[in-house]
Amino acid sequence: MLHAEIRQTPERPISRAFGLVFPKPEDMAKLSPADRRLGSLLAAESGVGNVTIPDRETAPAGQAKSADVVMGATELGEIIGIDLARLLDGRMLVQGTSGAGKSWTLRRLIEQTHGRVQQIIIDPEGEFKSIAERYGHFHVEAHKLDTAALALLGARIRAHRLSVLIDMSELDREGQLQAIAAFFESLINAPRAHWHPCLVFVDEAHLFAPFGGQSTAATSVRKAAIGAVTDLMSRGRKRGLCGILATQRLARMAKSVVSEMHNFVVGLNTLDLDIRRAAETIGWDASKAFDRLPMLEPGDFVAVGPAFSRSPAVLRVGGVETHHRGARPALSAPDDIDAEEAAQLLDLEALMEASAEDDEIRDENALIPSLKAIRAFIRDPAFAVAGRIYAELKAIAPSGARVSDMPAGLQSTAEDIAAGLALLDQFGALEFMGDGEDRAARIEKGMLACL
Ligand SMILES: Nc1ncnc2c1ncn2[C@@H]1O[C@H](COP(=O)(O)OP(=O)(O)OP(=O)(O)O)[C@@H](O)[C@H]1O
Ligand SMILES: [Mg+2]
Repeated sequence: MLHAEIRQTPERPISRAFGLVFPKPEDMAKLSPADRRLGSLLAAESGVGNVTIPDRETAPAGQAKSADVVMGATELGEIIGIDLARLLDGRMLVQGTSGAGKSWTLRRLIEQTHGRVQQIIIDPEGEFKSIAERYGHFHVEAHKLDTAALALLGARIRAHRLSVLIDMSELDREGQLQAIAAFFESLINAPRAHWHPCLVFVDEAHLFAPFGGQSTAATSVRKAAIGAVTDLMSRGRKRGLCGILATQRLARMAKSVVSEMHNFVVGLNTLDLDIRRAAETIGWDASKAFDRLPMLEPGDFVAVGPAFSRSPAVLRVGGVETHHRGARPALSAPDDIDAEEAAQLLDLEALMEASAEDDEIRDENALIPSLKAIRAFIRDPAFAVAGRIYAELKAIAPSGARVSDMPAGLQSTAEDIAAGLALLDQFGALEFMGDGEDRAARIEKGMLACL
């Protein structure tokens, strides 16, 4: 495609056959300032003439179409719409510090797209219940389902195109990761007949796809969850799944997830690292980002990407119809309570007594399961004789010894030997052969390999 007129001069012929192409001015406007300068120099050099390249912010605006979802408006009152089809293709990431208005923005998008496309809302904080109450999303309490049940649920949601709210607020962090892995995998693996367009809203998405060591969960659990979220973002597209993710920090999100995004909505940022990452993401130079991102008000965002009717645009996200629970509680002075009354209200003594009683159990419960098993083994009354049996059998391995010979050989009673053997057997340490008088025991094959 040749957008610009090329003046061919006899002294400097330019062959059209090589397809010399200059982008449209508004496309040039999307380049970084350095590339833009280079572009205009090249344009002048090759005889295209003086190309006036508009500043990124004043790039010609595409008109918001009536089919667009209205996201908000610029300071000048220009409506910023989202093209749903393009959104489905390019997904979206909403980023900003705590209080920037991310959850509000998700709520706005949920409300505005309700009834036009299936919606799945992943709610780690239990913030979106009012949406379900108002619009009839089926409310699922994830902690009441195990992973197998969540996988089945995912398949059914796809099959029946149900809009649902998955409330994960009662799950611990590891439980949330396990739940998301099982649920997303089932959404992605749904049969082709069920590949309908569906928006998947995920608030606090870094919890489910944490970068590197940002999560305390076991590596395998974390990997499975990151894999599932990445899959949702990449393989999900052809399957009609469109992730709309919100996170406080880009640095906390797995890179594999961020790299799948084409639409970004970036709000208030205050930390240096966040501002730099945000600037890279929206294509601003650092000085502009440092000037402007920390000054944004809650609800103000920079929107960049093919889904927006005008991009990049600084916009104020529009209002919401349902009650938003993200606000911090209003300031109010606490009641004046003296120490005696406080102790009574807290019932501190009873709490301390109960804690002392719990100490023993708590210590035991805090142990990792393998350690608990070893403790149980050592505490068993038959531990000593089991140790002696094991030592004798180890000496003659891989041969074994007749059980009936053991009491004499170990100067022990038949009863003690039986208890010792039972204990070793319980831990899979022995193999038994034969019956009755001829019954013999030897050290189990797998154990032998470690001797
Ligand atoms: N578009 C908006 N219009 C008006 N007020 C807004 C808007 N966006 C956010 N706010 C105000 O800012 C508050 C915080 O917004 P929100 O709960 O969405 O923040 P957040 O970015 O999700 O924060 P966190 O990361 O802590 O969850 C809201 O309760 C609301 O009062
Ligand atoms: Mg929030």
